[in-house]
Amino acid sequence: MIPMHKVFMPENIEEVIDPLREILKSGWIGEGNKVLEFEKQIGEFIGCRNIVALNSCTSALQLALRLCGVGVGDEVITTAMTCMATNEPIVLTGATPVWADVQPGTGNIDPESIREKIGIRTKVIMVVHWGGYPCDLDEINAIAQEHGLKVIEDCAHAWGSKYKDKIIGCHSDFACFSTQAIKHFTTGDGGILVCKNSEDYERARSLKWFGIDREHRHENNLGVAEWDIVEAGYKFHMNDIAATIGLAQFPYLDDLVTKRQTNAAYFDECFQNLPKVELLNQSDDRKSSYWLYTIKVQDRERFIKFMSHKGISTSIVHARNDKHSIFANYNSTGLKGLDDFSKSMVCVPVGQWVGADEREKIVWAIKSQDW
Ligand SMILES: Cc1ncc(COP(=O)(O)O)c(C=O)c1O
Repeated sequence: MIPMHKVFMPENIEEVIDPLREILKSGWIGEGNKVLEFEKQIGEFIGCRNIVALNSCTSALQLALRLCGVGVGDEVITTAMTCMATNEPIVLTGATPVWADVQPGTGNIDPESIREKIGIRTKVIMVVHWGGYPCDLDEINAIAQEHGLKVIEDCAHAWGSKYKDKIIGCHSDFACFSTQAIKHFTTGDGGILVCKNSEDYERARSLKWFGIDREHRHENNLGVAEWDIVEAGYKFHMNDIAATIGLAQFPYLDDLVTKRQTNAAYFDECFQNLPKVELLNQSDDRKSSYWLYTIKVQDRERFIKFMSHKGISTSIVHARNDKHSIFANYNSTGLKGLDDFSKSMVCVPVGQWVGADEREKIVWAIKSQDW
C-alpha cells in the first residue's frame, strides 16, 4: 500500500542517532543550546530573527492568540477547512470563532468573505495555507491594516512554500509551523512561532516557560536563579532531544520540498482534462510545498475505495471543523465555497516516499477514471 503520510528519517539513521546519543549522555536534555541552534537555523531559512521553538504548532497558535490579547468577548475570523488544532485554541481563549468562507478552487480562506465578517469585536484573522498553497496574503494583510487587526498564519502545511518570492513565515504578524511526526520534516513533536515584532518575540520567550525570562535570569547567593513573574505563562518550550532530531533533519528540507513539488508537477500534467477530476487553482505569484496534493473528484467515497483496492491510500486529511459539536453554537451558514470544497476534495500521496514507480501507479489508477 502506498501510504498517505510517512515519517521522514535520513537514510543513514546514524545522522540522527549520533548527535542524539551525545545529547542523551550530556546530562542536559531540557531546553538548551540545541534549541537555540535550531531556532537560529530556522531563522536563517525564514529570514526572520524572531523565532521561538515550542512543543507543538498548537502551542504556537495558542501563544500567538495570547500575544494578540484575544479573550472572552472577542471574535477571531478563521477558516473551518483545517485541522481542529487551528480552531480549538480560539475556543479555549473564550473568544468566538467566526467562519469565513473558503475559495472553492484552493480551500484557502477568501479575503472577500473575511471583509464581510469583520465586526466591532473582531481582533484577529487566522489563515491556513491548505496543503501548503499560500493564501492571498497581501489582500488579507491589507484588510487587517485597514481595520487594526492582527494576522496569524497557521503554516503547519507550508514549510518552504513561497508567496511573491518570499518564503512563507515572514509576511504577517505571526506564523506558526509544525514539526509533528508526519510534517515535511520532524522533531517527533514540535512547533515554531515566528513573530514579526520584537516586543511580541521577547514576550513569547518568557510566556513559553511560566512567564520566566530564562536566558536573562541571574543566580543569587543561594545558588538558585532569581526572577519575578509578571504574567503567567505556559510550559510550551521545545527540549534539546527534539531540537537535536530537528537539526539532523533540517538540512534535508529543501530536497524534501523539491521532491513533493516534482511529484505534484507531474500529477498536474497527467491529470489535465480528466472528466471526473478537477485540479486546484494555482497562481504564478506563489508556490506550494505540497504537504498535501489535493484534487476534487466526483463520487469521492467510490474514489477512495477504488484507490485503496489499487493499493493507494487517499484521504481528506481534515474534516471541516464547523460540523464538530464544540462549534455547534457558531453560525456556519452561507459558506458555499466551503460546502463545495469540503464535499469533493481528496488528497493523494505526494511525499518523498512516492518515487517514479509509485507515481506511475497513482497516475494510472486516477487516469483510468474507473471509480
Ligand atoms: C493546519 C494544521 N494546524 C495545526 C496543526 C497542529 O500541529 P501540531 O501537531 O504540531 O500541534 C496541524 C497538524 O496536523 C495542522 O494540520
